[in-house]
Amino acid sequence: MSLKQSVTTILQSKNGINSVKQRASSWWSGVQMGPPDAILGVTEAFRRDTNPNKINLGVGAYRDDNGKPYVLSVVRKAEDKIKAKNLDKEYAPISGVAEFCKRSIELALGEGSDVTSNGLNATVQSISGTGSLRVGAAFLNGFFPGNKTVYLPAPSWGNHTPLFKHSGLDVKAYRYYDPKTCGLDFSGAVEDISKIPEKSIILLHACAHNPTGVDPTREQWAELSALIKKRNLFPYFDMAYQGFATGNVDNDAYAVRLFIKEGHRIALAQSYAKNMGLYGERTGAFSLVASSKEEADRCMSQIKILIRALYSNPPINGARIASEILGDPELRSEWLKEVKGMADRIISVRTKLRDNLKKEGSTRNWDHITNQIGMFCFTGMKAPEVEKIIKEHSVYLTKDGRISMAGVTSKNVDYLARAIHAVTK
Ligand SMILES: Cc1ncc(COP(=O)(O)O)c(C=O)c1O
Repeated sequence: MSLKQSVTTILQSKNGINSVKQRASSWWSGVQMGPPDAILGVTEAFRRDTNPNKINLGVGAYRDDNGKPYVLSVVRKAEDKIKAKNLDKEYAPISGVAEFCKRSIELALGEGSDVTSNGLNATVQSISGTGSLRVGAAFLNGFFPGNKTVYLPAPSWGNHTPLFKHSGLDVKAYRYYDPKTCGLDFSGAVEDISKIPEKSIILLHACAHNPTGVDPTREQWAELSALIKKRNLFPYFDMAYQGFATGNVDNDAYAVRLFIKEGHRIALAQSYAKNMGLYGERTGAFSLVASSKEEADRCMSQIKILIRALYSNPPINGARIASEILGDPELRSEWLKEVKGMADRIISVRTKLRDNLKKEGSTRNWDHITNQIGMFCFTGMKAPEVEKIIKEHSVYLTKDGRISMAGVTSKNVDYLARAIHAVTK
């Protein structure tokens, strides 16, 4: 380029004349602006709001009764113990911290399960619940011998569809939630599952279904297990809330353990984001239950090859914390109490919210607030009501009417009930 040409170019781009041309010739000129994340978008709008009474019920992270993020005291203790060991920062193996994997699958299946005693599980540490689900999805896409379609409950966690599609699997749905009762559409689910083509994949929320808070009863789980077996479907359990639903890790693992007892070979994704409050530590596990140790070993070798290409090996810190808590009897029993404390606080604000709505004079039936379980409540508020409660009361939630009960406290529950009643009467 001559000096004259360079000067002209500089002047043109300074005046913006060239910017369109430059954009057109850029590598990324064809990239369209994507929509903001539905849940994180709610938090952004909340941050901009100057109302002192504003409440953010969008995000699924536990808050204490002052609305503040909560670090479990047992996590702090585990961190101190780890620090005292002065461990190195070497890479973990591809499958992660071995002790963590062992303790994690035992937490899910119960100690001394036939699966672990016979080495039938291929378990890897992965990047919280999402990464674990994604590793499992990659394995299914590569090796599932049947119909590579995952059937999700309708509705399901918003990230399930993009995650499975991103892995190359097809996604379809079965009926799950009944908006008329704000409860489970069990007959709809049974009818739809009966029609799923044999040898397909079915995703099940192990407990505390997100976003509805609606779980099957034990009797319904037994029926679902029999039906899924009859249809020869492959069950993939997403267990992001073990302990968080009822406050008891064994109760919350009921469905997973039942399916194992009934002879299903399952896939399982676990997360320690909620039950240990390790959100940003990205701690989780993926397990596949095989028919023999030899089969588990073969599957494990392939899962490791996939992980190597995806992220090589997982981060060590969260897994060390979780493993310390699970493996130390004193810390473990303290953890179980703290999980119960979190679950109980949520259960108690559910009751307060329902009672306050009645006190406000609402004639709607709000029993689903206490019937639903876990972090979320599907309030049944319609889109215009959601819009109104955000605009007029600064109560932030997702468009589908889901509220995170973890953001409700003894201090804001009165205000929230008044606001819900105001927009639903
Ligand atoms: C149903 C379900 N699965 C998986 C996850 C994954 O969470 P994380 O990747 O933070 O462990 C979540 C989190 O909200 C969830 O609700």
